[in-house]
Amino acid sequence: MRRFLHLLRQIATAPRAWQDSLRALLVLGAAEAAAAAGAAHPVAQSPWGKTSDGAVDIYTLTNVHGVEARIATYGATLVSLKAPDRNGQLKNIVLGFDSLEPYLKGVPYYGATVGRYANRIAKARFTLDGKDYQLAANDGPNTLHGGRRGFDKRIWKAEPLSAAQGNGVRFTYVSAAGEEGFPGELTVHALYRLDDQDNLEIEYTATTTAATPLNLANHAYFNLTGDPSVSVLDHMVTLNADRFTPVDATLIPTGELRAVEGTPFDFRTAHTIGSRIEAPDEQLRRGHGYDHNWVLNKPAPGMSLAAIVTEPRTGRSLEVRTTQPGVQFYTGNFMDGKPVEAGGSGFAHRTGLCLETQHFPDSPNQPSFPSTVLRPGKTFAEKTVLSLRVLK
Ligand code: GLA
Repeated sequence: MRRFLHLLRQIATAPRAWQDSLRALLVLGAAEAAAAAGAAHPVAQSPWGKTSDGAVDIYTLTNVHGVEARIATYGATLVSLKAPDRNGQLKNIVLGFDSLEPYLKGVPYYGATVGRYANRIAKARFTLDGKDYQLAANDGPNTLHGGRRGFDKRIWKAEPLSAAQGNGVRFTYVSAAGEEGFPGELTVHALYRLDDQDNLEIEYTATTTAATPLNLANHAYFNLTGDPSVSVLDHMVTLNADRFTPVDATLIPTGELRAVEGTPFDFRTAHTIGSRIEAPDEQLRRGHGYDHNWVLNKPAPGMSLAAIVTEPRTGRSLEVRTTQPGVQFYTGNFMDGKPVEAGGSGFAHRTGLCLETQHFPDSPNQPSFPSTVLRPGKTFAEKTVLSLRVLK
């Protein structure tokens, strides 16, 4: 203590420049210590608007390379993700809007967390444990992405992670029993975490009070050029899948797991999206392009590679790993470029591509597909990691 006081006195009488340097040193030391403790980039929170349900906030995660992810409590939506190109230039690579308003006008799930059942349920109904359930048909005869007001249109609670848990935010939504016709009160968490190796992790966990189908996915539309007016047809895509689930005319899987070999669905080696999207193929015609679920090759349970996307001009590359069994690869076929105010998608045709890691569509009606039923006492857990890379 005496030595400490002595030092303090010395500093107090030291020349001004020395005092300044010392102060700078102390600040730097504190920052380094915080970095070591994992709190180098405090999570920023700001108000983002209001809906009839209440206030919406937006959270910003950043890392040492300037990678930045912004996530809104409305839909636990990934609003933007800044990624470096091969010259280190940071640009936003997910389609989204600067303000909340367009999201409230019913845009096609940009960056949103979709549920309670991501993707389609045939004829808006299913039977579980001998009981029939009727849902809203919001996509022709089918239910799409949870119904009229899925998880993408709800305000989630948010809580920044502790320094020990990493650089991220945990979003929570409690979906009431009977909401959109689904049984059981479901408590669902969506956790976003960004590390200094440029990996953005999205983890879903959930518990329920009664058995329910559950399928959760993030619906980000990527455009690695960083320019949302440019088509994604020149992006190169690799999908780690030997099979896909062909669909009927309403985009419901027929139940077949079809080999991709010899079809425009073979992305086991990198192909540009545009190279085969216009091929005379019944499945491409039904999807108006690619809008299908690929059955991921899973050498072992746990995380495995789902997809790699590269954009040759900027050198931006995205690797997707997941615990989920499938990925819906959607090439923005329904995007129309009309203004959001006029009921349009706001972005032009095929200016975004989606890699919705998920369970297979219509699993509740497809006994041969992996089960999507969550029962009380069990915890649902699925994780996807988006890794931002650059080509040399
Ligand atoms: C999913 C579906 C598509 C489309 C988009 C939203 O990707 O599979 O058919 O509905 O969502 O427009």
